Amino acid sequence: MAKFIPLSTPVFDENEKDNILNAISIGKLATSGDFIEGFEEAIQQRYQGIHASVLNSGTSAIHLALKLLGVVKGDEVMCQSLTFCATANPINYLGASPVFVDSEVNTWNICPENLSNAIQDRISKGKKPKAIIAVDLFGMPAKYDELTEISKNFNIPLIEDAAEAMGSSMNGRPCGTFGEFGIFSFNGNKIITTGGGGALLSANQKMVEKAKYYSIQARENYKYYVHNEVGFNYRMNNMSAAIGLAQIGKLDYKIEKRRSVYQHYQNLLSNIEGITFLDEPNGCFSNRWLSAILIDYKKTGFSNEDLRLALLNQNIESRYLWKPLHTQPSFKECLFYGNGVSENLFESGLCLPSSEDLSLLDQERMVDVIINLLNK
Ligand SMILES: Cc1ncc(COP(=O)(O)O)c(C=O)c1O
Repeated sequence: MAKFIPLSTPVFDENEKDNILNAISIGKLATSGDFIEGFEEAIQQRYQGIHASVLNSGTSAIHLALKLLGVVKGDEVMCQSLTFCATANPINYLGASPVFVDSEVNTWNICPENLSNAIQDRISKGKKPKAIIAVDLFGMPAKYDELTEISKNFNIPLIEDAAEAMGSSMNGRPCGTFGEFGIFSFNGNKIITTGGGGALLSANQKMVEKAKYYSIQARENYKYYVHNEVGFNYRMNNMSAAIGLAQIGKLDYKIEKRRSVYQHYQNLLSNIEGITFLDEPNGCFSNRWLSAILIDYKKTGFSNEDLRLALLNQNIESRYLWKPLHTQPSFKECLFYGNGVSENLFESGLCLPSSEDLSLLDQERMVDVIINLLNK
């Protein structure tokens, strides 16, 4: 059997091992310890003027952002449809409802025009949305010029789900900093990982302090355990932060590697009619967390599913784009504003292996699979 090529795998070196051994040797594995503060400081150093709270997942970060914005039972939250379910699930945790919005074709992220029309429609029905969640899919920044305008004009706060976009930027401004809150995920397959983990970001220090408080079961600073509010067990542990601190120092290198993987795919495949890539719109810089292509069946004679199966047959993992959430059974009651863009992307897109240590030879193996399909 040919060597297995995973979709996206983490890469570690001695730095992570040293930090983990250090955390073990001082017996600090839980939710207090120097690595937690150290990791937060490293994030804050990279994102000047921003405060960060590191948590046990990106999902927890979205949940806390919504809670801090005052989202409660019966509210509506505008949400990008083409994304992982974790973007929208926390809306439901709070008893609120997502209102899904379609993507546009230049970034695959939430369409500002559809969003604006949807908000006007909800307001006309007496349901002004409480928040907007935009996502930077596969590392590509959403259209923040328009989105921040919409957020300002309607006076509805924006949350940036930058789970996949650490290190990306738009017009020099880093992803994660565009909304009232931004979030990152450090899940196992992300550009940097802590095993499982996430971060909540905001320019509002008070809000970030409040998030930290909620993340430790809303424990009051008192001689015994006092809880004036209901909190969550969401704080990152010291072991994870030990890994995160080692990883963040290599973020730029990792981005460079992922971008060169993407570039190689483009060099190898762009002359094939019917295979297209998502170029960076003017001013956008993507970390290219995952390299994704669109396949035009009419031109190639094979679908994304045909390619996924052919790659699998060669022990190569690939993955569909996210299935739009408005088409998911778990969200079947939710409203949707759009015109088929996200469904079309889902039906023609495929994410190819994108790990930073992928060799050119491995990439050529995939191209061979594609050429074989074309010649069938
Ligand atoms: C777009 C998006 N949002 C949210 C999340 C949730 O992050 P986590 O898995 O750290 O909870 C992920 C990743 O898993 C994601 O890809």
